[in-house]
Amino acid sequence: MEWDRIRKRPDAGAGANLADYDAYAKTFSWEQARALLDGLPGGGLNIASEAVERHVKAGRGDKLALRWIGRDDRIRDFTYATLDAAVNRFANALAQRGIAKGDRIFSLLGRVPELYFAALGTLKNGSVFSPLFSAFGPEPIKARMSIGDARALITTEAFYRRKIEPWRKELAGLKYVFLIECSASLPPDTIDLAAAMAQASDSFETVRTVPEDMALLHFTSGTTGKPKGAVHVHEAVVAHNITGKLVLDLHADDIFWCTADPGWITGTSYGIISPLANGATMIVDQAEFDAERWYRILHDQKVTIWYTAPTAIRMLMKAGADVAKRFDLSNLRLMASVGEPLNPEAVIWGVEAFGKPFHDNWWQTETGGIMISNFLAMDVKPGSMGRPLPGITAGIVEHREGSEVREMTKPMVMGELALRPGWPSMMRAYLNEEARYKKSFVGGWYLTGDLAMRDSDGYYWFVGRADDVIKSSGHLIGPFEVESALMEHKAVAEAGVIGIPEPTAGEVVKAYVALKDGFEPSEALRKELLGHARQRLGPAVAPKDIAFRQNLPKTRSGKIMRRLLKARELGLPEGDISTLESEER
Ligand code: PRX
Repeated sequence: MEWDRIRKRPDAGAGANLADYDAYAKTFSWEQARALLDGLPGGGLNIASEAVERHVKAGRGDKLALRWIGRDDRIRDFTYATLDAAVNRFANALAQRGIAKGDRIFSLLGRVPELYFAALGTLKNGSVFSPLFSAFGPEPIKARMSIGDARALITTEAFYRRKIEPWRKELAGLKYVFLIECSASLPPDTIDLAAAMAQASDSFETVRTVPEDMALLHFTSGTTGKPKGAVHVHEAVVAHNITGKLVLDLHADDIFWCTADPGWITGTSYGIISPLANGATMIVDQAEFDAERWYRILHDQKVTIWYTAPTAIRMLMKAGADVAKRFDLSNLRLMASVGEPLNPEAVIWGVEAFGKPFHDNWWQTETGGIMISNFLAMDVKPGSMGRPLPGITAGIVEHREGSEVREMTKPMVMGELALRPGWPSMMRAYLNEEARYKKSFVGGWYLTGDLAMRDSDGYYWFVGRADDVIKSSGHLIGPFEVESALMEHKAVAEAGVIGIPEPTAGEVVKAYVALKDGFEPSEALRKELLGHARQRLGPAVAPKDIAFRQNLPKTRSGKIMRRLLKARELGLPEGDISTLESEER
């Protein structure tokens, strides 16, 4: 097999939604993509209505929409009609309490059926849905709910007691807390969601939203400052729908499994909206990763399209191709990956284990949907993210602080990956952070913060982040958030946080800590700080390792030079250190 190119599969074009990339890209328009949806009377558009209700109205109500597999293998099936009924009950439970259009509804849930009712019911009610990752600790949760001005929260009683109740009073706007998995003695000021849904009607008239109404609030992290709330509008469903067709090749008879957690944007755009908008059947597994279990699900559920992430693929590789070969996975016709760099070896391992490559694709919270992909009907280049979605113009640009951007057209020149703005699922704002939002757009480009190259065939190659943001197991972690939590400990004077390469997770979080006078480095203190961070941030965000330093390298203006910490940790060249404080040199 050629290592640099896996030729388009002979069967790939037959019946594919995108059979000829170049021809399709020439004729594509977003207007055509919009016309694939039903809309609401008078130019309205609502994500939940496109995802569920329209299939019911069109007589497809009996089609299986969602098959939920519990941790204990219990199965709950929802047809489009029964899902719509549950979504309506949820929407009514909100509306009855005066929760209205534009109100922000947060979820802190694992992959349970109620999460899907909440996401879609919130949207149907015209409210804004903001999912939180259930492995977050109290601090990331509180930060996001305050920025987002949460009016309601859906969570479990256990999460509530541990992660919310201690600080709830500080969030005056948080009026309603709906609980699942709750005991007979509910905590004060909470509502049993099951009871609320049981007494609500299962019919609901979709609140009329227009394409530019805010629908989703997804938090992401930058290098500095608080998390950023990327605002997405109902029009995003145009992109969710079309990328489902063009990239994931979704057809109505597909059985689709997106393994992402709906606490992150992949789990919402592609773990809820895209497959449903396309009328497919989606599989949701409540359990955490387990190689045998995953193969069993692929086999038993006859999954046809599988959207997963590099960390998971690397864990499957560890278990060995032989495990995959024990299962008949002949129904599987497309495997796609996103979220972090996918090693070329992983793409090729796909061929060994499954008889087909993983198709890597690229996007971010801000883009709302897939932007670059190795399409099914295209040669796959292992290690490359692929080519831009029809309708998207990408470029490699040079951008220096304060200057305009310059596009670099020569092949394989490294620069910042940039996109021409204007697609439907583009973020419309960072909530209440106009300046930060504006900074992302320079010279008619949206700057992604990623470094990349483009080859002479137009394929994009990821090089790294242009900033200090960390990607661990596909989850974006802002170093500032981790540093802030460490600084809250009485012994910590300063903290610098970086990502250290790790073969499975891609990167793991490491912190460097300078102690206040009167505190001495010790193993006991290191453990205490690790525990402190874990308790506040949760296991997904907290550092895996902490090292003590007497001084941290800083710029003359006092900013910790994380880049230098990283270069020193990895024994790499220190690069330009002209701004380093003199005593640090
Ligand atoms: O750095 C890129 C990396 O993940 C970032 C986006 O993360 P997030 O906002 O959490 O979006 C999740 C939805 C995908 C990007 O800026 N990234 C994403 N896909 C790839 C990738 N890095 C390399 N290869 C990819 N295919």
